[in-house]
Amino acid sequence: MKVLFVSAEATPFAKTGGLGDVVGSLPVALRRLGVDVCLALPFYRIIREKNFGRRLLLDKLEVPFGNGKLAARIWETRIHKSIPVYLIERDEMYDRSGIYGGPSGDYDDNFERFAFFSRAVLSMADTIGISPDLIHCHDWHTGLLPAMLSERFRDSKTQSRLPSVFTIHNVGYQGLFPADKLSLANLPREVFYRPDGLEYYGKICLLKAGIVYSDAVTTVSPTYANEIQTPEYGMGMEGILRYRRASLFGILNGVDYELWNPARDPEIPVQYSPGSMAGKKACKRSLLKEMNLDPFLVKRPLLAMISRLDAQKGLDLLLQVLDDLLALDVGLVVLGSGDEGIEKNLKEAVRSHAGRVGLVIGFDEPLARRIIAGADIFLLPSRYEPCGLTQMYALKYGTVPVVRATGGLEDTVTAFDAENQDGNGFKFGPYEPDAFLSAVSRAVETFDRPLVWARVIANGMKEDFSWDRSAAQYRELYQKIIGRSASSNV
Ligand code: ADP
Ligand code: GLC
Repeated sequence: MKVLFVSAEATPFAKTGGLGDVVGSLPVALRRLGVDVCLALPFYRIIREKNFGRRLLLDKLEVPFGNGKLAARIWETRIHKSIPVYLIERDEMYDRSGIYGGPSGDYDDNFERFAFFSRAVLSMADTIGISPDLIHCHDWHTGLLPAMLSERFRDSKTQSRLPSVFTIHNVGYQGLFPADKLSLANLPREVFYRPDGLEYYGKICLLKAGIVYSDAVTTVSPTYANEIQTPEYGMGMEGILRYRRASLFGILNGVDYELWNPARDPEIPVQYSPGSMAGKKACKRSLLKEMNLDPFLVKRPLLAMISRLDAQKGLDLLLQVLDDLLALDVGLVVLGSGDEGIEKNLKEAVRSHAGRVGLVIGFDEPLARRIIAGADIFLLPSRYEPCGLTQMYALKYGTVPVVRATGGLEDTVTAFDAENQDGNGFKFGPYEPDAFLSAVSRAVETFDRPLVWARVIANGMKEDFSWDRSAAQYRELYQKIIGRSASSNV
């Protein structure tokens, strides 16, 4: 079975959040299960700068775009030597400092950038003869691809239809663009106007395109798959998602423990494991020093949050409870980048708390790892969270998560029950400051009972969210779809 992944991000090449982690690691797990996976990415400047070994596959690929054709170059690099990664080069579109935008916001030609990428992937697959059995698309950036596949088949008398799976990593990012851009994608007008078409309040919605035209839609946790069918979480897509519910599946994201394991992580000051936890204390001491925090915090809980600065992530709740949190005699470290308004509010809020709160604005993976290893408690008060990866990393690093019970946080964190000594973290329900504060207080009280706390940590470090189970679910879904589409093409 051959599957072509198409995505705007994949580690180690380009990452702004969890999409990169997932698309960089799921193919590796699928490969272990015998699926022949390859991956296509835009050739961003950051990939060029990182200097991965690569070879030129095609010097000039002509891609139909609007009324004419645009040229692209195709490079090939690899993940783990075994997974081919095709890089679509078109400097005018991708040779920029950001992936989606710069300091003043999203690039205003993002429709062109990702519509071209989607179309170029199809031309490339034809030209170099990749011949996948299925294309797996991720998030709105690749939403046009299932529509393109479907329309291409309609026009062709000889070709059979290539099936697709579309994974929603976040329903809040929908790829909305002015309707007049659609002609660039060489799709007929009716694709827009049909009731189940790309139109959404007069605009083109690329997320909707992926939802409507793919053979199956997946999202990244079972709870989120249910939530997005409701008005509270569907962000306007609930109707079309309910319409497709027979083909909508929630498959929990996994973790690549080769990359996220405190016993092997080269970025943390001292490695550690469940049987030998001295390293974790050393990581904490080192983090306190790095963040210029008060040494008395060695004995008190160190809280941490690592996040895109976005309304999704609940930073407003954190700010509302900050003073009450600090009254619990704890320290706090925050690492984040994104929305400038949230950044400003954070900076103002921590100004008067030097020594107790460390704030770093930026995107810094080695620092993220040092924080996950050095903190005691990891905060995720998300308004919504499709899956969330950092709570799973935190569990493996013996850092106890306090989360809002939503999406993948609900599916991965179990409330600690002192009586039975089971559970791996602390949860709260309503998106309210008091509920959040009360969950953190419960964690802090438990921290003050060292033997019980050790048990919470041990329960978390034992959890296994490796990709194997979820990758098997994807493989099963691919098989079903490929089988079905083969029989309908006969
Ligand atoms: P999302 O994709 O919504 O941002 P996830 O929890 O799925 O949330 O994934 C976030 C990923 O990005 C994790 O690998 C996390 O460590 C990383 N990350 C987020 N913000 C930063 C940052 N400022 N610096 C370094 N890594 C970050
Ligand atoms: C999104 C979600 C996050 C999820 C990630 C990877 O960015 O916000 O919850 O873990 O995608 O699927």
